[in-house]
Amino acid sequence: MRSIRLPLSTPIVQAPLGVCDGPWLAGTVSRAGGLGTLTLSAPSLEATRVRLARLRGYTTRPVLLALTAEWEKERVLELCLEHGFRHFQVFWWNGMRQVRRIHAGGGLALWQVGTFDQVDEALSQGADALILQSTQAGGPVRSSHTLEELVPRVRALVGAEFPVIAGGGLATKEDIKRTLELGASAAFLGTRFLLTREANAPLVHKHRLLQAQTQQLTLDTRLVGQWPCSPRRRLGTATLPDVPSLYAGAGLSQIHGLPSAAEVVRRLSAGRTQA
Ligand SMILES: Cc1cc2nc3c(=O)[nH]c(=O)nc-3n(C[C@H](O)[C@H](O)[C@H](O)COP(=O)(O)O)c2cc1C
Repeated sequence: MRSIRLPLSTPIVQAPLGVCDGPWLAGTVSRAGGLGTLTLSAPSLEATRVRLARLRGYTTRPVLLALTAEWEKERVLELCLEHGFRHFQVFWWNGMRQVRRIHAGGGLALWQVGTFDQVDEALSQGADALILQSTQAGGPVRSSHTLEELVPRVRALVGAEFPVIAGGGLATKEDIKRTLELGASAAFLGTRFLLTREANAPLVHKHRLLQAQTQQLTLDTRLVGQWPCSPRRRLGTATLPDVPSLYAGAGLSQIHGLPSAAEVVRRLSAGRTQA
């Protein structure tokens, strides 16, 4: 199996956070040596152009661009390539369509999966790396497997060199160590990066999450909100709306303070280099 090298100085990948990520967060994570992610969800071409230019203002290092819409305009991928981006996250609903176009443009497809059928599909379609999301994840949960179930089995399937990024419920340096020991090449963290200065969420929601515990999170299966098709792990009370800025993963209780995203990368990766 063809193996690429992940563009990381340290094995930390910021997960896509939809409206809560942005050029500032993604650029800061990549500049700090991790891999930042910017969600592109069928915005207008002009809005995409502005966001990509802003991102380039923060860093010239690689950033992962998450193509989350089912039918992205063809020009969106072309714009990203024109701005020098080569790393794209795709999913089961758009990977089949995007992977050939990404490869034709000289890019790489990092394919997010949550089931073993999706792993087989991604590999058979030419994914360059797998992103494994576990059932402990914050926000849209698209897996019923733990990292302990997913990572060793996928690693055995793909061999030692193939890049496997894994996350869902991770918050601490120890969590990352455990994930790498299971066989992942890098760790994938969403909630930890939501609770940073750079994330695009109301400060009042960040503080609400910081004061909450993992036991207060619920898996919301109502057909409402931004991703009604998948259950969302979020802070749930009768009065709180289903908004992305209140999504959080099972590692929430381990997260304290609102540091900068660069500080998070530094703390989580102290003493580590690319696996
Ligand atoms: C605030 C927030 C927003 C999210 N938005 C999206 C999204 O728009 N699209 C998506 O595919 N995943 C989204 N996710 C899921 C993350 O990409 C990732 O799978 C998850 O955060 C990993 O679990 P963790 O939060 O426990 O680290 C979101 C997660 C959070 C916490």
